[in-house]
Amino acid sequence: MKFVAMVFVVGAIAIIFADSNSEAGDILYAWKTYLIDPNNVLQSWDPTLDNPCTWFHVTCNGQNSVVRVDLGAANLSGTLVPQLAMLSNLQYLQVQNNSIGGEIPSQLGNLTKLVSLGLENNQLNGPIPSSLGNLKSLRWMRLNSNKLSGKIPISVLKLIYWGNLQLLNVSDNQLAGTLRQANQTGFATTIVIQDMTA
Ligand SMILES: *[C@@H]1O[C@H](CO)[C@@H](O)[C@H](O)[C@H]1NC(C)=O
Ligand SMILES: *[C@@H]1O[C@H](CO)[C@@H](O)[C@H](O)[C@H]1NC(C)=O
Ligand SMILES: *[C@@H]1O[C@H](CO)[C@@H](O)[C@H](O)[C@H]1NC(C)=O
Ligand SMILES: *[C@@H]1O[C@H](CO)[C@@H](O)[C@H](O)[C@H]1NC(C)=O
Ligand SMILES: *[C@@H]1O[C@H](CO)[C@@H](O)[C@H](O)[C@H]1NC(C)=O
Repeated sequence: MKFVAMVFVVGAIAIIFADSNSEAGDILYAWKTYLIDPNNVLQSWDPTLDNPCTWFHVTCNGQNSVVRVDLGAANLSGTLVPQLAMLSNLQYLQVQNNSIGGEIPSQLGNLTKLVSLGLENNQLNGPIPSSLGNLKSLRWMRLNSNKLSGKIPISVLKLIYWGNLQLLNVSDNQLAGTLRQANQTGFATTIVIQDMTA
């Protein structure tokens, strides 16, 4: 009995210390299974290669953590997946100019190192998750030209004033309320705000 318990403990420790890289590979490969990829741009996303840092469209930092996923204009359809939130060092998530549908997973609000969220020109629907207001490092949030609905969460608007957000483009969606573009400042800054109606 004691011996069996021991085996379980050792097994658990081995899992905890499992290579974080293969975990990132598992996350990205899991996402791949939710994507339709007629041009085979994800061909190199091979789960038998332990390290996703060698995959095309994936960039790692010096510590072998995934920091960028660049899949713009890759003719992809399918959906985003909540597991992407587990790529905890991700700074750039660029999947613009595809046909990705479904909702924006609220879990993406856990990607606290994210600098750029490029989801524009897709088929995303549903609300803008208020959890995206947690992304205090975010400088560019491009959600334009999708089918997003609801209001821009206040938490996200607050990023403009108290976070690092330089550009929030929510144009060409199905959002409620009046959108107006405010203040083109010296930077390439476009602040798009939603008028607060009662
Ligand atoms: C996406 O499309 C826009 C306009 O359709 C274009 O200006 C931009 O260069 C494209 N970006 C990428 C990464 O494909
Ligand atoms: C996407 O599809 C278009 C037309 O089918 C093609 O011209 C283009 O090269 C494809 N892009 C990629 C990245 O495969
Ligand atoms: C991410 O955020 C959601 C809420 O938005 C939370 O429930 C979840 O536990 C967080 N963690 C991960 C790894 O997704
Ligand atoms: C914002 O999005 C609209 C619609 O996609 C696009 O026409 C416009 O160029 C974008 N503006 C900026 C500053 O990115
Ligand atoms: C833009 O906003 C800044 C700071 O709020 C203000 O000083 C400036 O006058 C505004 N510019 C325009 C064109 O409204």
